[in-house]
Amino acid sequence: MREKLDRLARARVAAEEGGGVERLAAQHAKGKLSARERLDVLLDEGSFVELDRFVTSRSLGEGEAPIYGDGVVTGYGRIDGRLVYVFSQDFTVFGGSLSEAHAAKICKVMDLALRNGAPMIGLNDSGGARIQEGVVSLGGYADIFLRNTMASGVIPQISAILGPCAGGAVYSPAITDFIYMVRKTSYMFVTGPNVVKTVTHEDVTMEQLGGADTHAGTSGVAHFAHDSELETLHAIRQLFRFVPSNNVDDPPRGASTDPAGRRDEALLSLVPDHPNQPYDMREVLKRIVDDGEFYEVQPDYAANILVGFAHLGGHSVGIVANQPAVLAGVLDIEASLKAARFVRFCDCFNIPIITFEDVPGFLPGVAQEHGGIIKHGAKLLYAYCEATVPKLTVITRKAYGGAYDVMSSKHIRGDVNLAWPTAEIAVMGPKGAVEILYRKEIASAADPAAALDARVADYTERFANPYTAAARGYVDDIIDPRDTRPRLIDALSTLRGKRDRNPPRKHGNLPL
Ligand code: HXC
Repeated sequence: MREKLDRLARARVAAEEGGGVERLAAQHAKGKLSARERLDVLLDEGSFVELDRFVTSRSLGEGEAPIYGDGVVTGYGRIDGRLVYVFSQDFTVFGGSLSEAHAAKICKVMDLALRNGAPMIGLNDSGGARIQEGVVSLGGYADIFLRNTMASGVIPQISAILGPCAGGAVYSPAITDFIYMVRKTSYMFVTGPNVVKTVTHEDVTMEQLGGADTHAGTSGVAHFAHDSELETLHAIRQLFRFVPSNNVDDPPRGASTDPAGRRDEALLSLVPDHPNQPYDMREVLKRIVDDGEFYEVQPDYAANILVGFAHLGGHSVGIVANQPAVLAGVLDIEASLKAARFVRFCDCFNIPIITFEDVPGFLPGVAQEHGGIIKHGAKLLYAYCEATVPKLTVITRKAYGGAYDVMSSKHIRGDVNLAWPTAEIAVMGPKGAVEILYRKEIASAADPAAALDARVADYTERFANPYTAAARGYVDDIIDPRDTRPRLIDALSTLRGKRDRNPPRKHGNLPL
């Protein structure tokens, strides 16, 4: 027995060597951690249990020595005591490329995660399909994509991109719920700069083509960009303070002692008197949620809308908020896409959605129309309409036009819709409306400017307020802004038993 135990001990050590000390040193020299070091940071101390450490490649070349693990470390561990399944690709073994055996290991933990209702976290650092293995590695990718799709909406799937991820290595993350990237060391592209140069003659660096800032700020492919791997892995741990383990569990409760009845005086003065003056909606949110803590998702993309997680009275909530400080909070293509995907995530995972609304409408213009604002805006509308989680809305100022309908209005099953006295709920803003309705009258007036002002004042008095909507029950109440936190927490408590469902069907046809 002793001999056998010694052999096992030697094999376990060998299995941890990966591609060898030189390649590991090269990995460290780039500011990157090894596959195992990353798991040590991500998971609770000592909680990682490895599976399949003795798996080797199924297509070794002649004379090639098998490498235990075949370029990926897989298993399970805990985050704040909660079970998660993980894979962590080892770039020191064939550049973390995906072989048949490597794919089979990932598929095994994905199957376990789905069966056991636990989140799946992938730490990606891979040159894509293992070239030597040909079509079997392509098959391996397809096996993973299928599992990503089957697990979507059942368990949260998180991807960290921690190296140059090319080809198939980007499509699995693209199906997952959230993508984290690291500045200067992680890249995502279908084909790298060399292929781009050959095909389109464009000169572009790795960073410009597929770096963290490119994907977090321009393409919207990534949700988070951090400066280091440590920051990234800690941020993933933090995410689990808000999301449940699967689609039948409740989200975790926050540990805050922030009083549920706390009123905030500053909320009285955050919305400027002049309707066209901007203000920072982030400030409004922070004054309302527990301890002012807002875990913002995609902060660098479509900044005219804010999405993210918070706790309210200890309950995990998803927040969608127009941001008047950027483009007046208008809804454009990117904002619609960003918010639609977030609303659908919350709805999948039983996270109530709180909408803060100050929106002048959809962005007009040729670029938006030709870019498909109609179908992209419809995605947000669709996402809100189909969502059956508790939906609460606070209209702080403008709720104009189609955007009024879209942003979780009563008509699309908003559960509790509140307005501040500063709310303006109408088909369009006073000036635009008056110019259409009274164009001739104003043009022929002795003093057109005065006539316009008079009509605007009249319209504002009659329509640009919350009372017409409240008279119809389209908002449930007009509240003192200082009471927003207690009112939302109370409303959330009434919705804890909410049961709502959509008609049975295979699936809807989201306007893609
Ligand atoms: C086998 C690979 C590999 C791959 C890298 N390596 N990619 N081995 N298959 N796909 C090996 C290298 O030979 C090298 O081995 C080691 O990994 C490190 O690679 P380097 O090139 O030295 O590293 P670096 O300079 O950092 O460049 C990393 C990289 C580059 C940008 C990822 O290696 C690269 O472009 N690789 C190919 C990417 C690619 O085209 N993949 C196929 C995509 S097609 P040694 O022994 O020297 O350490 C695909 C199809 C799926 O994925 C589609 C599904 C939809």
